[in-house]
Amino acid sequence: MGLETLDPSDFLIFDKTYSERLNLRRSLVEQHPEDVIGITDDYDSRIQLAVQELYSYLFKTYLPSRYPSIFKTHCDKTYSLITVKNLVTGKIIPADAESISLPAALAIISENVDEDFFILLPHQVNENKTSAETVYVLEAYSACFPSGFQPRDKIGKRLADIHGPVPKYKEKLQKSMDRFFARLEVGRLVKRVNWAVTVDEELYSNFDKSGPAFEGTLKKMTVDDLDLNKTFLRSERQTLHRLPASNAIVFAFHTYLYPIQDIKAEGSAEDLALAIDGLQSGSVPEIFTYKNGDKWADAVKQYLRS
Ligand code: HEM
Repeated sequence: MGLETLDPSDFLIFDKTYSERLNLRRSLVEQHPEDVIGITDDYDSRIQLAVQELYSYLFKTYLPSRYPSIFKTHCDKTYSLITVKNLVTGKIIPADAESISLPAALAIISENVDEDFFILLPHQVNENKTSAETVYVLEAYSACFPSGFQPRDKIGKRLADIHGPVPKYKEKLQKSMDRFFARLEVGRLVKRVNWAVTVDEELYSNFDKSGPAFEGTLKKMTVDDLDLNKTFLRSERQTLHRLPASNAIVFAFHTYLYPIQDIKAEGSAEDLALAIDGLQSGSVPEIFTYKNGDKWADAVKQYLRS
């Protein structure tokens, strides 16, 4: 699964793109609220607890202590109402989500942290009528920059169904992932990294790409078709951890976009070309198709090696 344990203080990374990306996040929350925010059931008390727990962990605990130059807490005279000021945007937000709706809480998360969050809760199911098993279901998200899939297609689904389009998921990943989810203990933070090349999109990329890839309806590009201003190495730094009170698992990711022109200018063109070759000939070559490699790989490699 390619997971490694992280120090919990490294949960969220802030970089120099923060302010610019928050502007984009704010406009996406405004223009596409139904894509960016999703909840299966606002009135479900387990989901309320999980969203509120993530919210207060972020704004009351993690962010003010890890990034005090950005997030400053403030108590009123009775020490009962705590607010947080984002010193970059100048905006003041509540430190707890109990007094606001779940969509509002998820929107505040989206507008203050350059990270996408997916909250999954365990459910007991007894489908074969002999033994109960636990499955994890996606109950809520705040996600501005998913790549190649639409979170609203995934809401309410189990982990295995969420990964439906991922080649060889059932054969190669499902068992170990289920075991990992069952055993992930509170206090442990793990990380995985994914990557692909994208040729026709920027940060906001909320559409289904695996459908056209597997239908074979994509047009193969030549190097002359490449728009270098829109060709990026796109990578997600993904983390997983469990919330102690709700028992929810939080899947979070930060998206990096590296212009392919910069990669070449820095002298890393051959490394990327070799990585693309590896994706094509790797242990699951269908992943190459899933990532639209048939469309872009030859053109991108030709550019990198020219
Ligand atoms: C141990 C943790 C996980 C592993 C090893 C894993 C693995 C993968 C892999 C291999 C892919 C194909 C693209 C890529 O290379 O990343 C993928 C796609 C995806 N994963 Fe995961 N995943 C994990 C956890 C999660 C969780 C918790 C969610 C919850 C929302 C999730 C949602 C997705 C989605 C939405 C896609 C895109 C599917 C599509 O194309 O429709 N993953 N995952």
